[in-house]
Amino acid sequence: MCGIVGYVGSRPVTPLLLDALEKLEYRGYDSAGIAFMADNGIIIHKTRGRIADLRKIVDAATDDDDCTVGIGHTRWATHGEPSDVNSHPHLSRSKRVAVVHNGIIENYIELRHHLEAHGYVFSTETDSEVVSELIDYCYTGGDPVAAVRKAEQQLKGSYALGILFSDFPDQIIALRKDSPLIIGVGEGENFIASDIPAILKHTRSVFRLGERELAILTRKRVTVLDTFGNRVEHPIEHIDWDATAAEKGGYSHFMIKEIFEQPDAIAKTLAPRIKEDMSIDLGFKSITDDDLRGIDSIKITACGSAYHVGVVAKHFLKRILRIPVEAELASEFRYDDPIIDEHTLVIIVSQSGETLDTLYALREAKAHGARVVSIVNVVASSIANESEEVLYTWAGPEIAVATTKAYSTQLALIELFGLYMARVRGMLPEEEIISSIKALQNVPEGVQKLLDDVKSVQYIASLYFNCQDVFFIGRNMDYALSLEASLKLKEISYIHSEAYAAGELKHGTISLIEDGTLVIALCVYRPLLEKMLSNIKEVKARGAKVIAIINDDDVQTGTIADHIIRIPECTDITVPLMTIVPLQLFAYYIASLKGCDIDKPRNLAKSVTVE
Ligand code: F6R
Repeated sequence: MCGIVGYVGSRPVTPLLLDALEKLEYRGYDSAGIAFMADNGIIIHKTRGRIADLRKIVDAATDDDDCTVGIGHTRWATHGEPSDVNSHPHLSRSKRVAVVHNGIIENYIELRHHLEAHGYVFSTETDSEVVSELIDYCYTGGDPVAAVRKAEQQLKGSYALGILFSDFPDQIIALRKDSPLIIGVGEGENFIASDIPAILKHTRSVFRLGERELAILTRKRVTVLDTFGNRVEHPIEHIDWDATAAEKGGYSHFMIKEIFEQPDAIAKTLAPRIKEDMSIDLGFKSITDDDLRGIDSIKITACGSAYHVGVVAKHFLKRILRIPVEAELASEFRYDDPIIDEHTLVIIVSQSGETLDTLYALREAKAHGARVVSIVNVVASSIANESEEVLYTWAGPEIAVATTKAYSTQLALIELFGLYMARVRGMLPEEEIISSIKALQNVPEGVQKLLDDVKSVQYIASLYFNCQDVFFIGRNMDYALSLEASLKLKEISYIHSEAYAAGELKHGTISLIEDGTLVIALCVYRPLLEKMLSNIKEVKARGAKVIAIINDDDVQTGTIADHIIRIPECTDITVPLMTIVPLQLFAYYIASLKGCDIDKPRNLAKSVTVE
């Protein structure tokens, strides 16, 4: 996820672009850049770092006098590490075309080879540089719109583009497919932006560019064309949000925004790795299929929610690979003299890629000669840099301290990795692997269904937001999910909560259950449903109030629980990815009703770089 902006008008363009980019920093903040039209052509300033770093460069340059047309970008690296050269905008070698891009060009390697064969030279590791050069290559008849459309025919993937042509100093061209782009309409000025907050200060009249529509922006007008070149008219929306709400896209908190981003984040993480023929492409360079066949045990190590991903994955991987799989807290792993060697695969999980305990666990694993795969969200972070292989979760920046979309993308990715490994080791019939891959592909849709109807979760939260203690219980996969559900609730609402393996209750904890104690029973793991029913009866008999999370077709649990939340149409592989969603929502709504500082809970930091 990155942020793009563009302006054509009569105001000084550089301060306007910098200010707009600051409002989009939540979409990416590892590098930034702007391009603007000057008398002698297109000028670019870009750098690794934040908008504040870019501002210093632009202020020092003083080359922007009277410039009133430009584009800008704030980056969240996916292809190529955050660096000055990989930052956007990308200027074609001919200096005729400058491009900012949000999205992923899936066939960039193929296009790069094609352009190289025609004498084009590339200097970045990005997928986006190919767009500026391809448009340049297609710009043969002096018609910029024709060039962009011709280039687009060859692009696969997702893109929101802002494009400058040096031959047309008074216009911007914009184009989008599968990445958001809005057009802001002003008096004698017009704007493009990935999101409304970027331009809210200047105009509240906006419309969303439709799929594969192209817009030509000049000071006087915005012309929108469909793929056939026909004019399209969009009704103008008036935005009446206040500026702070706008940064969260209209949501009250980043956490709820990120919960709602999960369908998209999961799709972005999985889709590029699943090919049309149902093969899985992990992009490994060093670990081969033979290496994976030689692995005799797996250790997953991480902290907090990332560790909880490991606990869910442990059950799944063990079941499909039939080798020992353990999940261990990184802070323990490191000091526990782990029994690992070159036949052990250590999977490191980290959103930030900077968690110190996890980084040290990674070093410990490497010191023992283990093979190491990391699942990381932040590109070129320390853990990513030091890992043998990295699988990136393309969830985009996560701002809320309590993780949601990083958790679910980590889980989706580790499951996909498990299927890959099961296939190379011949552990599952091919039909089962294909149906599991298809089930994973359907997760974004299933999660969306849960998010489309949050009323029952909101209602249940409204009944219990004053409670003092909550116990989450489950067995196997359900217990693994309980760990995360309980952490989510306690960290943002400050309600005391614990997760217990349901079978353990009677070995001590059940003495805490009294009249009115809230128990949340996870009952979606089908093989142990009967056992869970007995556990629910045990706590009900001691006066507990029970919220049960159940499969859609479960007709028994609802007859004994006080409330039920149904998870629609799940398979073994998709059930954890779906089940966590109402539990995240429950924690969020409880904390919201209590008036907590949800995005920045007390005592917590997003990235824990101390032991
Ligand atoms: C909880 C949460 C934390 C992190 C943990 C590891 O909501 O976000 O428990 O999961 O601090 O952080 P990363 O994944 O950055 O290594």
